[in-house]
Amino acid sequence: MSRATTVTVTNQKGGVGKTTIGIHLAFALKQMDKRVCLVDMDTQGNASAILSRDPRINMRPGGAEALFHEDKEIKPMQTPSGIDLLHGHLELERVDKEVAASDAIKLRERINELDYDYVIFDTPPSLGVRQLSALIWADVAAVPTKPAPMDVQGTAATIRVIKRLIESGQNPNLRWKILINMYVTTSKAQSELTEKIRTQFPANFVQFTFGQRVGLSDCLAVGQPIWEYRNTPREVADAWRSLPASLGVI
Ligand SMILES: Nc1ncnc2c1ncn2[C@@H]1O[C@H](COP(=O)(O)OP(=O)(O)O)[C@@H](O)[C@H]1O
Ligand SMILES: [Mg+2]
Repeated sequence: MSRATTVTVTNQKGGVGKTTIGIHLAFALKQMDKRVCLVDMDTQGNASAILSRDPRINMRPGGAEALFHEDKEIKPMQTPSGIDLLHGHLELERVDKEVAASDAIKLRERINELDYDYVIFDTPPSLGVRQLSALIWADVAAVPTKPAPMDVQGTAATIRVIKRLIESGQNPNLRWKILINMYVTTSKAQSELTEKIRTQFPANFVQFTFGQRVGLSDCLAVGQPIWEYRNTPREVADAWRSLPASLGVI
């Protein structure tokens, strides 16, 4: 058994598209016949609700919490999508109090035992143990951002954390990519900011930008990726379906 490739979708800012990107990455890899497990570290459990089709799943304990406790069995659930899930729930908040981020290095062995081709971590919009652990366990960090000043601030802080994990040796081989999401192409300010980010991080910039598109909320509400959803233009479908290649994980 070879160990899974791990991808952590992260940004301290909420509402930038972490969950949307994490789920689409999972769908894209699943359609390539890969064995995929999504781990939802967020107490809101949005990704869990989308995959399990159970809107109240975040009231149910278990799921992702087991990763942090060596005496607990890790039991991913199967979902209709074929993607397995370690769900997120309200009690995950406890992890931030009970576990230290430094424990994550030791807990990495438990992640290595997950028998999948890919493990994808969706993370909460806060810098706590759950977000840090998922970054310590990641081969690749995917950092979505909106091209708007307040979102870019959160993104810069997130990138500083990533660089610190690399430089301190906590995850020296961590690779990372920035994705521009919810881009409104008609906005001059947004295109200028996008260019600025591209120039600042040329090696880490995902060339496909992801435009603002209402269908993205609608398609996930019915458990479908955007490329299967009605009236999706070809170039939009292609950008989302190409996430594994854009992130360099395929
Ligand atoms: N490219 C996009 N176009 C339009 N809506 C989007 C796009 N990406 C995400 N959304 C919507 O924006 C909201 C926040 O996205 P979400 O993925 O939940 O962000 P996060 O996980 O970072 O909080 C959701 O309602 C989602 O459907
Ligand atoms: Mg989310």
